Amino acid sequence: MLKLHDVIKTYDGKSQVTALAGINLTIGAGEMVAIMGPSGSGKSTLLNLMGGLDVPTSGQVMVAGEDLARESEKGRSLFRRSKVSYIFQAYHLMPTLKVSQNVALPLHLAGVPAGEINRKVAQVLKEVGLEARSGHLPDELSGGERQRVAIARALVTGAPLLLADEPTGNLDTARGEEILNLLRTIHRERGTTIVMVTHDHHAASACDRLIKLRDGKVEGDSVQAGGGK
Ligand SMILES: Nc1ncnc2c1ncn2[C@@H]1O[C@H](COP(=O)(O)OP(=O)(O)OP(=O)(O)O)[C@@H](O)[C@H]1O
Ligand SMILES: [Mg+2]
Repeated sequence: MLKLHDVIKTYDGKSQVTALAGINLTIGAGEMVAIMGPSGSGKSTLLNLMGGLDVPTSGQVMVAGEDLARESEKGRSLFRRSKVSYIFQAYHLMPTLKVSQNVALPLHLAGVPAGEINRKVAQVLKEVGLEARSGHLPDELSGGERQRVAIARALVTGAPLLLADEPTGNLDTARGEEILNLLRTIHRERGTTIVMVTHDHHAASACDRLIKLRDGKVEGDSVQAGGGK
C-alpha cells in the first residue's frame, strides 16, 4: 500500500529544518500501524507526505501504486479525493453544517448523486453509532462524538487508506478507548489500512505494528504480538 524510499523533507525558513532525514518504510495493505516519537520528530510531516498533502524534498513516496513525489498538484488532489482519508486531533468539522452534511461533504465534492449520498451517509453514521445525531450541529456533540463524525466522514468515500494524526489526543481515557475500538473494527471489517500518529502508549498498543521516529529517522519498527487486544 505504501512504500517510502530515501525520503527527505527539509523546510526552508530563516534556518533550514530537516524534518525527515532519510525514511525507508513499507506498509502493506490492511496493516494497522502506530507512529510514535518525540515532539518535532517528523510524525505529522510523514503523515502529510503519505496523504499527498505535501511533497518530499527528495525520495519516493509510493502510495497505492502512485509516486506522489512526482505527481502534479492536480494529480495529488485527485489521489486525496479517492485513495486516502484523514482524521485529526481537532476533528476539523464545519461548524455550520449538520452532522449528516459534514459527513456528506467529500461525496458532494466528488459529484456523487444525492440519493447515493443519503444512503451512504446513513450507513456510515450507523457504523459509528451516531444515526440519532445526524441532524445536530457539531457544537451540540461531545468530543468523542465529534471524532466519530470525523471518522464517518473519513469512511464515507471508501478510501483504502486512513491516516490519523493523534485521533485520541483531545479525549479522556474512556472516550479515547471508544475511538480506538471503532478504528479497530473498521480495520477488521473493511480491511482499511490505518496509519495513526499518537503520543499515547495505550493507543499505540491497539495497533499491530509500532514505528518509532526520532530526529526524522526511523529509530524502531516492531510487530506487536498483542496488537489489537
Ligand atoms: N511548515 C513548516 N515550516 C518549517 N518547519 C516546519 C514546518 N512544519 C514542521 N516543521 C518542523 O519540522 C520538524 C518536524 O515537525 P512535525 O510537525 O512533523 O513534528 P511532529 O513529530 O508531528 O511533532 P508533534 O508531536 O509536536 O506534533 C519540526 O522541527 C518542526 O518545527
Ligand atoms: Mg504532529
